Amino acid sequence: MDHYAVFGNPIKQSKSPFIHTLFASQTAQQMVYSAVEAPTDGFEKTLTDFFAEQGKGCNITVPFKEQAFLYAQQLTERAQLAGAVNTLKLTDDGLIIGDNTDGAGLLLDLKNNHINIKNARILLLGAGGAARGVCGPLLAESPRELVIANRTFSKAQTLADKFTQFGSVNACEFEHLSGNFDLIINSTSASLSGSLPPLSASLIRPETAVYDMMYSAQATVFNAWAKEQGARLVLDGLGMLVGQAAESFAIWRGVKPGAKQVLSELRHNLAG
Ligand code: ATR
Repeated sequence: MDHYAVFGNPIKQSKSPFIHTLFASQTAQQMVYSAVEAPTDGFEKTLTDFFAEQGKGCNITVPFKEQAFLYAQQLTERAQLAGAVNTLKLTDDGLIIGDNTDGAGLLLDLKNNHINIKNARILLLGAGGAARGVCGPLLAESPRELVIANRTFSKAQTLADKFTQFGSVNACEFEHLSGNFDLIINSTSASLSGSLPPLSASLIRPETAVYDMMYSAQATVFNAWAKEQGARLVLDGLGMLVGQAAESFAIWRGVKPGAKQVLSELRHNLAG
């Protein structure tokens, strides 16, 4: 039986085993998927042991995505651009390939919710690892402009500079943001502490869709605020979580599972 797993620390909260087990039964794949808490100082050894046994592929989550990037023997272009790896696959030739499906997962969820990226003006809040992971895939869809705003402006500028060859991308201070945005994506970890990025309410227009990469049983602080300001649609990151998992699953097994059923079960469990 082929083995797959997610490695992180902590890992108890991970929904990946639930998601991939459902994907496997949906697509009739013979496989097992477990959650492994790797020691913070023993990530490489844990991975090496996994691949030496029956491990065929894995997901990597906080805080190991950068270490997985270094561990991979070969990287996909999108993993190189993201500077982080969330998916490893052992090939038949014994090569460990690192990929990053986070951005593709976001795009899949946006598409499932009929949010158009082509020619759209997009605001990305935050400039950390989560933001970097989605810049390349977003720009590949040819938005009119991608504006990156961050509390520490220099980080937004560095990130924008990294991606300038891939499309129209600019950094902006929060207080200088203006104009209409079709889509605002919150990649900051502000929601974790129940706080909001310092965004002017006037940026939320009746035509604006809002996507918070975080998720929770109730609306995230950011989504609740955006809704109050009249955003036309607010989405949280549960769909992105399922989307990135579906992309990883397809890389390993060569078959793309559907996201809908898994997403609605997860949403139901979250509420329960
Ligand atoms: P991740 O991998 O989740 O992106 P990260 O790399 O630590 O985590 O980045 C966190 C992001 O959230 C950063 O953009 C951070 O802004 P700074 O670069 O200025 O630190 C942003 N962030 C965290 N808390 C925030 C808050 N209360 N308000 C605004 N931005 C916040």
